[in-house]
Amino acid sequence: MEILPCKSRADAVALTAKLIGARLDATPEMVLGLATGRTMEEVYDHLATNGARFDRCTTFNLDEYVGLPPNHPQSYAAYMAGHLFDRVDIDRACTHLPDGMAADLGHAARDYEARIAAAGGIDLQLLGIGAAGHIGFNEPLSAFRSRTRDKILTPTTRDQNAGMFGGDAARVPKRALTMGVGTILEAGELILLACGAAKAEVVARAVEGPLTARVSASAIQLHPACKVILDPEAAAALEDIAYYRFVCANEEKWDPYRDHL
Ligand code: F6R
Repeated sequence: MEILPCKSRADAVALTAKLIGARLDATPEMVLGLATGRTMEEVYDHLATNGARFDRCTTFNLDEYVGLPPNHPQSYAAYMAGHLFDRVDIDRACTHLPDGMAADLGHAARDYEARIAAAGGIDLQLLGIGAAGHIGFNEPLSAFRSRTRDKILTPTTRDQNAGMFGGDAARVPKRALTMGVGTILEAGELILLACGAAKAEVVARAVEGPLTARVSASAIQLHPACKVILDPEAAAALEDIAYYRFVCANEEKWDPYRDHL
């Protein structure tokens, strides 16, 4: 795992977007795993504003609410259209989200896994982290080997996402269809971005705490190619921050990105 503590929130966002953009330039036909949420809005804005090319890539989103049709303004399908897909040159036939409207969610989940496999697997998966310690919607006690399935959302997560539903947690859907922790761990590379003081404690538990299904994000410690990009507020509770800064400062591969670090 590589921890990349950035100078500011804008720098953390810019570094994340630049790393994704560089991968798209190097391998335009890559399979990119996408996340939603407040944090990612800024990343997608940076990518769209800076003319990142998506014309040959395939995307798979981490999750979708159960019971919201793609044209519902709070669905993640609508989020992706508004924040990214309608703003870049992506082929919409190559974009995938779990089908939260499926009559048979188990079948939809297996179909999603099959589509990922048919695409050759995910090369790079973008992740946020929730207050409940989730990646995707893998709420506490999600098995590290879990696959795509529907999950009940914790009150913490429904409170966290209430802002997108007029501030009313009761309007946040109760369930979501989400890639499993095991699905996520099979991606070739992970980039987790976290910003803001509200994420400091959970980031420290995920990065420095024990591996535990109570914090599903701690599973990223098992991944051989995982970058964690943080703004100063989200990095504030890390015990070994001086070591992470030392590594970052001495790794030449980060020289092109020094402005952000
Ligand atoms: C959304 C997702 C979630 C979010 C996380 C952080 O697709 O997978 O894990 O990344 O809840 O959300 P924000 O950025 O809104 O704090």
